[in-house]
Amino acid sequence: MGTVVLGTGSCLPERILTNVELESIVDTSDEWIQSRTGIASRHIGGKGEKTYQLAAKAARKALDAAGVLPEEIDVIVVATLTSHMLMPSTACFVQDEIGAKNAFAYDLNAACSGFLYGFDLADKYIQADHSKIILVIGVETLSSRLNWQDRNTCILFGDGAGAIVAGYSDSERGFVRSNFGSDGSLWDLLCMYGPQSLNPDLEIEGHPGSHVIMGGREVFKHAVRAMENSVLRVLEEEGIGMDSVDLVIPHQANIRILNKLVERLSIPEEKLFINVSKYGNTSAASIPIALDEANNEGLISAGDTVLFCTFGGGFTWGAALIKW
Ligand code: ACO
Repeated sequence: MGTVVLGTGSCLPERILTNVELESIVDTSDEWIQSRTGIASRHIGGKGEKTYQLAAKAARKALDAAGVLPEEIDVIVVATLTSHMLMPSTACFVQDEIGAKNAFAYDLNAACSGFLYGFDLADKYIQADHSKIILVIGVETLSSRLNWQDRNTCILFGDGAGAIVAGYSDSERGFVRSNFGSDGSLWDLLCMYGPQSLNPDLEIEGHPGSHVIMGGREVFKHAVRAMENSVLRVLEEEGIGMDSVDLVIPHQANIRILNKLVERLSIPEEKLFINVSKYGNTSAASIPIALDEANNEGLISAGDTVLFCTFGGGFTWGAALIKW
């Protein structure tokens, strides 16, 4: 039928930063963070854990799980907004690091939605040519782009990487359908400026620094509405209801957004995969890390219908259905 996941992998930095430790950095409390976000701790990148290094480690695990050699990869798509360099891309660093010498490689930035956009692209490559093997990675080191004095944002995010190797199967399994959306008019509700321009004519007025800026309440409302609509649309287009879905793997933004989705979409709690308490919001890495965990925990069986949904800066959002 189509595009299947041949293997999954993930990599989290060694250092764990707990809410209690955060209490000594900003004016916050474990109780406030847990009750407002469901987050208890997050991983923070250290030496040897740059964006491409985390990505390459996750990729190697996915390749091992898939039984695929690096030279067999045709395309590497890395979803990230925290590449340690603007050029070359993280994907090119990964290509070199893992020895995928026959692949072409590029980064994709759709903020937290990047991995799902990349998975959709992998499906399109594979539908066009069934012989293609695509490595899709979601990776972030957002700790390098947070204002550690801003308690509204620094408590939310974490670092990590997740990867899949996708290929073709002529079985009844595969990527079923997806839908995506973007709204650039609301960019300033969740954004991160790049470095200031070296060309005075292209200077960015009011450049506040290269860290995450967020209007939390507004983001919350848009995230719930957009994911709800995308999920309803993908189910309707497939002609199925939530009762036909075996597992929902959402972007792990925070527990209250997920609770709202559960309520509005009548998702049985046991069908919703949640790991946000351990990792915080790892942006583009959150879905592939969750997918790898769910897979390793044996929560997904062949033939299961898995639903993904996401929302992020841009705004960007979407949902996808996979027959595992
Ligand atoms: N610790 C203690 N107090 C805090 C903290 C903190 N870390 N952060 C904010 N507060 C205070 C505020 O200053 C405010 O105090 P005040 O009433 O004296 O002014 C009070 O708590 C309430 O602040 P709100 O921003 O209104 O708190 P809210 O209940 O909206 O929760 C939160 C904030 C958790 C950010 C919420 O808006 C949210 O979850 N938004 C979604 C954001 C998100 O998930 N972004 C991720 C990126 S997008 C994505 O991935 C989908």
